[in-house]
This record gives sequence, structure tokens and C-alpha cells, in this order.
Amino acid sequence: MEELTIKILSYPLSDEFLKQEVEKLLHESFNTSPRANIQEVKDAHYSAPAEYILISKNTELVGIQMIFLREAVFENQHIIIGGLGGLCVKEEFRGRGIARQLLSIAMEEMKRLSCDISMLFTNVHNPQYVKLYNTYGFQILDREYMFINRVGKVCKAKSAMIAPVNSEEKYERIFHSSGSLDIGAGEW
Ligand SMILES: CC(C)(COP(=O)(O)OP(=O)(O)OC[C@H]1O[C@@H](n2cnc3c(N)ncnc32)[C@H](O)[C@@H]1OP(=O)(O)O)[C@@H](O)C(=O)NCCC(=O)NCCS
Repeated sequence: MEELTIKILSYPLSDEFLKQEVEKLLHESFNTSPRANIQEVKDAHYSAPAEYILISKNTELVGIQMIFLREAVFENQHIIIGGLGGLCVKEEFRGRGIARQLLSIAMEEMKRLSCDISMLFTNVHNPQYVKLYNTYGFQILDREYMFINRVGKVCKAKSAMIAPVNSEEKYERIFHSSGSLDIGAGEW
């Protein structure tokens, strides 16, 4: 069985080599799709993560999951959101359970970080993604949420999934309410 190393590191990464590897893998995994080059999509993502979960084989970085932290107020209740973003696995290493490993670690880490719920943005019309995230308790949030993009525009979108972390009650409230969830500065 191959030897994989797992690291959980805070932002910003101090190791310059690792930082470049992270940027490279994120770029290969996300920035090559035509959708990534749409200005609206670029303007929606501008936050720094709180933590990186990184999986490497020897010195080769093979998988990334970032955790973003966001505080919000929903129907007068304070919520700590653990945002997941940037889940990716190097092409040659896909199909071996690495994404699942990253997600399991991220769910535990968000508990430790006192997150009430977790939220992520994905193509909710792709059943493979939905099925993957369902396993970790995520359900499609079937209504619009709001955020402010990089240039200060208030945007509405409908491509999120949410899961309970430390508060089943806050999760249920957000999931079942008709109110609009304002997540603040961008889709991470
Ligand atoms: C999606 C991705 C992270 C999966 O990584 P992986 O290590 O191959 O995944 P795993 O081996 O842990 O498999 C987990 C599940 O992901 C699903 N999956 C695998 N490849 C997938 C793909 N290309 N698209 C969507 N889902 C995929 C599988 O259905 C699998 O489910 P199963 O365990 O029930 O068979 C990887 O294909 C990737 O990096 N893609 C590019 C970036 C991306 O799309 N990230 C997700 C953003 S929301």
C-alpha cells in the first residue's frame, strides 16, 4: 500500500515550495475549464482559507482541501460556517479514495474549529458530486444565498450544499427556512 502523508496547515503557507505546489495543483484542477475564466466566476472567489488539508506522496502533493471560516447572522442567530473549497486530486491519483479521505478529515477539522455548519459550492446538477458530498451529510440548499463579490456587487446564486457540523439545530433552521442566507465576502 502506498504511503501518503497528511498535513493540516494554517494560512499562509510558510514553505515556499509547498505554496507553489498548492497553486499549481489548484490551477491544473480548476483554472483550465472555460467556466473558470468567466469574469463573474473569478470575481466570486477572493477569500483566503483558514487552513489547508494536504495529502502528499513522498514530496509530491497529490490532494488539497481548503477550509474557509465565515461568520454570518441568519434570522438573528450567529452562525460559524466552515466553508469547503478547492477539493482536488492530481489526475494520476484519482479514483483511489483520496478525495474521500480529504473530506473525512475536513469534517473532523471543522468540528474542532467550532463550525456550526459547513457549506460548499459545486455543480449541483452533477450527480457524482452530489453523491460524493451526500455521504458527508451535505444536502443541496434549494434556494438562493447572497454574497458580495470582489468588486462590491451583491450577487445571488443557487449552487450550494450544506451539512451540519456542531449544530444540527442551526443546520435545520437554515435548510428549512425561506430566508436568504447572506454569506458575506464571496463564495470563499
Ligand atoms: C472530484 C475529485 C476531487 C475526486 O477525487 P478522487 O480522489 O478521484 O475521488 P475518490 O477516489 O475519493 O472518489 C470519491 C467519489 O468521487 C466521485 N468522483 C470521482 N471522480 C469524479 C469526477 N471526475 N467528477 C465527479 N465525481 C467524481 C466518485 O463517484 C467517487 O464516488 P464513490 O466513492 O462512490 O465511487 C477529482 O476528480 C478532481 O480533483 N477533480 C477536479 C476538481 C474538482 O472537480 N473538484 C471538485 C470541486 S466541487
